[in-house]
Amino acid sequence: MQPAPRYSVIAGWGHFAPRRVLTNQDLEQMVDTTDEWIITRTGIRERHIAGPDENSLTMAIAAARMALDRAGIQPEDLDLIMMGTVTPNYVTPATSCLLQDALGAHCPAFDFNAACSGFIYGLTIAHSLIHIGQANTALLVGSEVLSRIIDYQDRATCVLFGDGAGAVVLKASNRPGGIRASVLGADGSNPERLMVPGGMFAEPNDAPPRPRTVLMNGQEVFRFATIYGAEAAQQVLARTGWSVNEIKLFIPHQANLRIIDALRRRLELPEDRVFVNIDRYGNTSCASIGIALSEAAEAGLLSPGDKVLLAAFGAGLTWAAMTLEWGT
Ligand code: ACO
Repeated sequence: MQPAPRYSVIAGWGHFAPRRVLTNQDLEQMVDTTDEWIITRTGIRERHIAGPDENSLTMAIAAARMALDRAGIQPEDLDLIMMGTVTPNYVTPATSCLLQDALGAHCPAFDFNAACSGFIYGLTIAHSLIHIGQANTALLVGSEVLSRIIDYQDRATCVLFGDGAGAVVLKASNRPGGIRASVLGADGSNPERLMVPGGMFAEPNDAPPRPRTVLMNGQEVFRFATIYGAEAAQQVLARTGWSVNEIKLFIPHQANLRIIDALRRRLELPEDRVFVNIDRYGNTSCASIGIALSEAAEAGLLSPGDKVLLAAFGAGLTWAAMTLEWGT
């Protein structure tokens, strides 16, 4: 009998962003803002926005196909599909089930929601299912059409978010490596800090509708992100037994360049070991770390055995950090 696989290695990666780009100059025409304000306060220059025929499913399909190609895996070889999203196509069925059908896979599929911490939550769940032998080859996708839950008259939020999808294929391995440890957390005590209040079932159907758009206390989220993101990263490093000096690349959730800088300084990491693409994407929530991982790999920034640190924070509020060794 084969020993149970214990390790989960990232064998493929992919990402997708809609063709349409919304620049800061475009936003200047829509709300009372400036390119200069957005760049200095957030680091964002442009973000991708889904066209009328695009949604979380179509973007997930594109990112997933790229990840499967990179991994050399056929869809029928998958035995798990997971999708993190706060913007699913439907309440039910899960968008991951639609993705399974579109890819031609035949495996279990489910969605989950941990907002911007979702990709690390998802990696942790996929790894756990691989670890117990439930899956040998898993596809994880984060896909978000956040432009559909943004009020483009609210300058405090509409400059921050964009659309896109990121995906990885995880394979079971008996060789030590791949995902090493994760730290997950949540504090649901004050959900108004970052919330989409309407569009679901908290109230009866005849209650006045609440906005189906992001409401946010930016300063509180900012403070929370810098404290909890850094603590989670430090905790996961300690749990893994790695020093920060060993980290080849830190890939943080891309929400705000000032948050990324604050995390980097708390961790005492040099700039050249931090991956940043927020200038071109804005905040894509659960897709953010998937897109960043895929772009970093495409750019040749990751070699087998490299030690990688991930950290994220988001609505919930949730936070997450992970250590992993790149491919083997
Ligand atoms: N253009 C111009 N001025 C603006 C804009 C804008 N787009 N947005 C806000 N302002 C104004 C405010 O009205 C305020 O004006 P006032 O001083 O006259 O009242 C001023 O700029 C300063 O506002 P602050 O909120 O203090 O600005 P701050 O420096 O905190 O930046 C920001 C705001 C960018 C939202 C920041 O707080 C932030 O990034 N927070 C974290 C948000 C985040 O990451 N959310 C996502 C988390 S992940 C998830 O799960 C979705």
